[in-house]
Amino acid sequence: MANKHESMHIDPYEKTWIIVSILMLIVFFGAVTVAGLSFGVRVPDPVQRVNPNDLAASGTFAEPGLKEVAPKRYEAYIVAQTWSFNPREIQVPAGSIVKFYVTSKDVQHGFKLQNTNVNMQIVPGQVSSLAVKFDKPGEYDFICTEYCGIGHAAMYGKVIVVP
Ligand code: CUA
Repeated sequence: MANKHESMHIDPYEKTWIIVSILMLIVFFGAVTVAGLSFGVRVPDPVQRVNPNDLAASGTFAEPGLKEVAPKRYEAYIVAQTWSFNPREIQVPAGSIVKFYVTSKDVQHGFKLQNTNVNMQIVPGQVSSLAVKFDKPGEYDFICTEYCGIGHAAMYGKVIVVP
């Protein structure tokens, strides 16, 4: 038994790694804070709950698609299902802000919109939402990022931004 007045013995290597671990926590915490506050990295909000077995009764998802809410401001309602997105393609003019609302009819899917910071998990019963401003004309593919069965790799669509 060690004398209780003796200070706790910590191996120097162990001490170094404890300090390194604490520094890493501080760095990661700082990185998350900077990403959130300065670079606009946002966690997608689950904005609404819907009945996945009866999307026709959920109003906005009864007829998925693009809705213009103001000049160059749109809402896109997209339904994910094995193995496609409905609609598969939407078109907006450059400079538009599009707020995406995505839900699933069946199993868990993903919605990643390339060259933007949109990457959401799509869970049946829940609506995921994020907004994007499309400054540059071009094509932005969206793909399913959660393995959802044999047709997963074929589950994609695109946003076309026209000048
Ligand atoms: Cu849907 Cu993978």
